[in-house]
Amino acid sequence: MNVSILGGGAWGTTLAQTLTDNGNLVVIRDINKEFVEKINVEHVHPFFGMSIPSSIRATLDLKETLDFSDVVVLCVPTKAMRMVLKECNKELTKPTLFINVSKGIEPETSLRVSEIVEEEIDEKNLMGYVALSGPSHAEEVILRKATALVAASKNEALACKVQALFSNEKYMRVYTSDDVIGVEAGGAMKNAIAIVSGVASGMGLGENARAMLITRGIKEILSIVLALGGKMETVYGLSGIGDLIVTASSLNSRNFQCGLKIGRGMTVEEAMGSIVQSVEGVRAIHAGHEIGIKYNLELPIIDEAFKVVEGKLSAKEALHNLLSRSLKTEKYW
Ligand SMILES: NC(=O)c1ccc[n+]([C@@H]2O[C@H](COP(=O)([O-])OP(=O)(O)OC[C@H]3O[C@@H](n4cnc5c(N)ncnc54)[C@H](O)[C@@H]3O)[C@@H](O)[C@H]2O)c1
Repeated sequence: MNVSILGGGAWGTTLAQTLTDNGNLVVIRDINKEFVEKINVEHVHPFFGMSIPSSIRATLDLKETLDFSDVVVLCVPTKAMRMVLKECNKELTKPTLFINVSKGIEPETSLRVSEIVEEEIDEKNLMGYVALSGPSHAEEVILRKATALVAASKNEALACKVQALFSNEKYMRVYTSDDVIGVEAGGAMKNAIAIVSGVASGMGLGENARAMLITRGIKEILSIVLALGGKMETVYGLSGIGDLIVTASSLNSRNFQCGLKIGRGMTVEEAMGSIVQSVEGVRAIHAGHEIGIKYNLELPIIDEAFKVVEGKLSAKEALHNLLSRSLKTEKYW
């Protein structure tokens, strides 16, 4: 099958390799000329530098990419998603399946990618939508290390199609789900908790504190997912706890790294500016805070993190606020 990928960064180019391993032909569109040349001329991953299959083609041309296939993988940072989808809608000539692998919430609107797709892609151009998410460092998938993802769609047949497209018996196993909200919201919010976990490490707190923040963070992700209409079981799955485990304590995670730098004293702008790839977690903290206000949720960790990233509170003061809250019974729902 032919597959088009929008965004040839760390994850997009890595997934291009997986799709090629599975016998598909892939064209990547990126706006970075240097990346396009690295893929086409040197046949190397633009971020990791290792060889990738020479059949993977890259281009700057959106129309050429969309004409290549009716299956499009969305892999640009969420902040660029609406603009990219608007451009796509102008160029599309056939119903297209959109597979979103970006894990973020749109700045300003706090919308999930499925909602942006619904707003920007005309019905005649939209075959369907699948969110593909889960614990997956590109750095490991590019080395073909065993990984599992979940493909969520309201349309079961399309979820199964994406499951078959990406799965292989060597290193990639994909599950299906019907909970698009749970997969998207959980995948975005775990980046918020990964930043918090990084801040704690950067401040010099220990593993106890990290476990406390991650575990109580799961409670907050669950509150948000349920408020938005997602399912509890999804939060306990690959796109929720699974992704949190891999993100919230690994130096491979740019969100954890960003938090680490904030915890060591950098401003949010300095920390984000020092990381080349997209960091979605700071925006997720804002979105989580806004969703909490809208649905009247108790989100102490996200609310304190919001004050820290807004520069209103130091990380030390935020920790003090969390520890000095009234004592409670441990409840998860
Ligand atoms: N890196 C990972 O391990 C990983 C794993 C799973 C999911 N993700 C998610 O995938 C998304 C992308 O992450 P990434 O790591 O590939 O980021 P990245 O910063 O490495 O790559 C993003 C790419 O998008 C391109 N881009 C930006 N604006 C564009 C536009 N308007 N049109 C076309 N291309 C554009 C950039 O040039 C860049 O190559 C994020 O939401 C991230 O959370 C990443």
